[in-house]
Amino acid sequence: MEKREVEIELNGCPYRARIEPRLLLSDFIRHEARLTGTHVGCEHGVCGACTVEIDGTPMRSCLVLAVQARNRQVRTVEGLTDGWPDHELTILQEAFHEKHALQCGFCTPGFLMSLQPLLLEERELSEEDIQVALSGNLCRCTGYRNIVAAVQLALERIREVRNTGSSQENAEKLPQRR
Ligand code: FES
Ligand code: FES
Repeated sequence: MEKREVEIELNGCPYRARIEPRLLLSDFIRHEARLTGTHVGCEHGVCGACTVEIDGTPMRSCLVLAVQARNRQVRTVEGLTDGWPDHELTILQEAFHEKHALQCGFCTPGFLMSLQPLLLEERELSEEDIQVALSGNLCRCTGYRNIVAAVQLALERIREVRNTGSSQENAEKLPQRR
């Protein structure tokens, strides 16, 4: 099959390649761009492990062809903070760490990417809102309780930084709208 030229903005940097039109975005990210933080589980849109943001919206990269992402902005888990790859953990990543919200960690990048829009919401969020936001991602290890607890902790810290303007260091870790 004839290869196509694509340019995709990947974590803020333009990435050009000649690729087969049938190449999945998940394979493009992992094998072409070598960003292996995006995981591939089911490869048919069920588990959510491959979730990335395309133009700011979380999407399953195993259901998108790389050519469909041409000239669009793709953000992977590696690009969650500015200054990648020399970044510190985000508030949500720190909360996952503190609340033991992962065991094998295979599902974690997908959860982190799916949760980005929730972190930008400014209204009070209930446990049910968090469960709905998590409902498209599967985890075989944790039983989800600690993941919900981590999201609650992250939301609490984000609210604190927004309300009190607490330390510059923490302000830099706030989720950013893309
Ligand atoms: S690998 Fe894409 S949803 Fe499971
Ligand atoms: S931590 Fe193992 S699948 Fe979620």
